[in-house]
Order: sequence, then structure tokens, then C-alpha cells
Amino acid sequence: MPLFHRIARIEKAAIPFTLDGIACEGREGDTVLTAILCHAERLRQSEFSGAPRAGFCQMGACQDCWVQCEDGERLRACSTPLTEGLRIITTRRP
Ligand code: FES
Repeated sequence: MPLFHRIARIEKAAIPFTLDGIACEGREGDTVLTAILCHAERLRQSEFSGAPRAGFCQMGACQDCWVQCEDGERLRACSTPLTEGLRIITTRRP
């Protein structure tokens, strides 16, 4: 079950992206964090313990929300606007 339930920007244009290979849609104006948590119960797994993380400060200060894209780029999810075609990975890779 997703951590966020969308109640705003429902009427905005859809922005397609993939989350762990699954096709998803965010809305114009979403951050990457908002878009992910509207589809998932966690943002990423801790690289140290594997524990689920969902960001903390939501304002670019704590560094708890870094996610990786399939091309290796890393994004601070709470301060990066969602853009069409992002291919985001939230699970750890060996
Ligand atoms: S949630 Fe703190 S920097 Fe993104």
C-alpha cells in the first residue's frame, strides 16, 4: 500500500516514469519523492541495514532521500521535480 494518498494536483497532467521497472504516473508539480510514495510504501532501502526509508526532512537538508536511476544517476528525491521518463530504482542491488 502506498505511503501517500494523493489529494492534490489530481487534475494536473500525468508524468510517466518507472519505479523498479514498473510503469507509473506522477503529476505535474510532483517531486520525485511525492511521485514514488504515491506508488510505494517506502522511498528506498538503507544501504547499511536494508531498512525502509521514506525521507525525513522533506526540504533538502537531511540527505535521507537519495534514490538512484537505472543509468546510475542519483537524485535527492525531495527536491528534484519529477520529469517524464525517469527510471527510478528503490531496491538495493548486489
Ligand atoms: S528528505 Fe531530507 S534531504 Fe530529502
